Amino acid sequence: MKVRINWKRAAIALAVLPVAALFVAWLGFFNVGAASGHWKITEWFLHFAMRSAVRTYALPIAPPDGPPPVGVRPAAGHYAAGCAMCHGAPGAPRGATVRAMLPAPPALTAAALADWSDAELFRIVKHGLRFTGMPAWPAQARDDEVWAMVAFLRRLPELAPRDYRSLAYGEAPPDSAGDVANRFEGALAGCARCHGRDGTGGGETVPVIAGQRPAYLAASLAAYAEGRRASGIMQLAAGQADAALFDRLARHYAGQSAPAAPPTDAAPELIERGRAIARRGIPERDVPACLGCHGRPERNPVYPGLDGQRPDYLANQLRLFAAGVRGGTPYSHLMTAFADELTVRERAALAAYFASRPAR
Ligand code: HEC
Ligand code: HEC
Ligand code: HEC
Repeated sequence: MKVRINWKRAAIALAVLPVAALFVAWLGFFNVGAASGHWKITEWFLHFAMRSAVRTYALPIAPPDGPPPVGVRPAAGHYAAGCAMCHGAPGAPRGATVRAMLPAPPALTAAALADWSDAELFRIVKHGLRFTGMPAWPAQARDDEVWAMVAFLRRLPELAPRDYRSLAYGEAPPDSAGDVANRFEGALAGCARCHGRDGTGGGETVPVIAGQRPAYLAASLAAYAEGRRASGIMQLAAGQADAALFDRLARHYAGQSAPAAPPTDAAPELIERGRAIARRGIPERDVPACLGCHGRPERNPVYPGLDGQRPDYLANQLRLFAAGVRGGTPYSHLMTAFADELTVRERAALAAYFASRPAR
């Protein structure tokens, strides 16, 4: 008998196929165990598909010119808390459990990283990798943080264990972060990796939190922990600390004295422009006088102090408010309302002005 292929038969076959596939899956013959690994061909195919997808999705990504506004040091601190357990770090290789994962997270050696362009690393770190356990960046709005991580990954392979530790842990020795005997001390040691115990650490792009108002610090920690303020770095750090300790941590840092701001190298005209806006605002663009809120601590305990804050940090926060991704306490809309009216130069002027004022 001659079998004629017609549309009706083809349609029936197509309809039956998923049912057949479901039936085979239901029988349970497909081995999902990780012990025996993938077939060579499956492994080849998965990696082939992964590399091709990363390459294609990275095509429109253009690396920023200039260094990312978030520095390499907080990225190193984030790596220690959020990546090293899978990928290992100088002086702390991957454990046996992790090497038994399928696929196993690779050690990020110079050879492994040489396969990827900066845009491709950005794509992997921002979006993660499906079916591998490689997580996405916790705050999708913070490309600046992801670029900081890419910059750190480029340095990682050449770091000696000692240099890695001082970059990632600052003054706090690694094992004290796991100190659970005293929960507050343990949490503080975690923060101290980036901020120092005195709230002045972390380098140019990390805020000075010493002497900041306690209500603002506590409200900001809650905002990070609940995802209302976007920062992959701080979301992880706040999430790893116990929320019941936020008030104590805030009081601790509020009680530290902020350092005298280092002499500024900003041009006097720039600072002068910042001062003018801070005092009078820009009425024709509905930008209010900053000092109306930031210069009057009695108005609301959640309005942060800006005096003596690091200029790179201030300028980056103003950029984030302008882009509508800053979030924060229940009052953050006060900033979002006008921040996009400020030009890049005005943001730099305001940052230079507040940085030049004596710290609280
Ligand atoms: C739960 C474990 C896990 C965590 C945590 C993790 N990764 Fe991964 N990562 C993986 C796995 C698994 C792969 C994919 C390996 C593969 O496809 O063969 C991967 C792949 C990568 C790659 C591509 C490497 C290559 O050569 O294929 C980079 C780069 C990377 N991760 C960076 C990071 C960074 C940065 C962090 C922290 C923000 C991080 N990972 C957190 C598991 C993890
Ligand atoms: C891995 C580095 C790192 C660790 C660990 C860390 N921080 Fe931060 N912290 C940062 C960075 C970077 C920012 C700026 C984030 C942003 O852009 O919003 C920040 C911001 C903050 C802010 C907001 C300050 C402001 O002026 O708005 C507070 C409050 C804070 N951190 C407190 C803490 C506390 C408390 C801990 C410990 C539980 C901690 N941080 C752990 C890097 C870190
Ligand atoms: C109506 C009150 C108000 C005015 C006016 C105001 N701010 Fe703010 N500002 C706030 C509040 C409230 C926050 C805290 C937002 C949050 O984190 O929830 C803030 C936060 C900031 C931050 C982030 C600080 C940090 O540590 O992360 C910067 C920078 C800032 N303001 C700059 C300015 C500048 C510059 C002006 C003037 C052009 C200005 N603000 C005017 C209320 C105000």
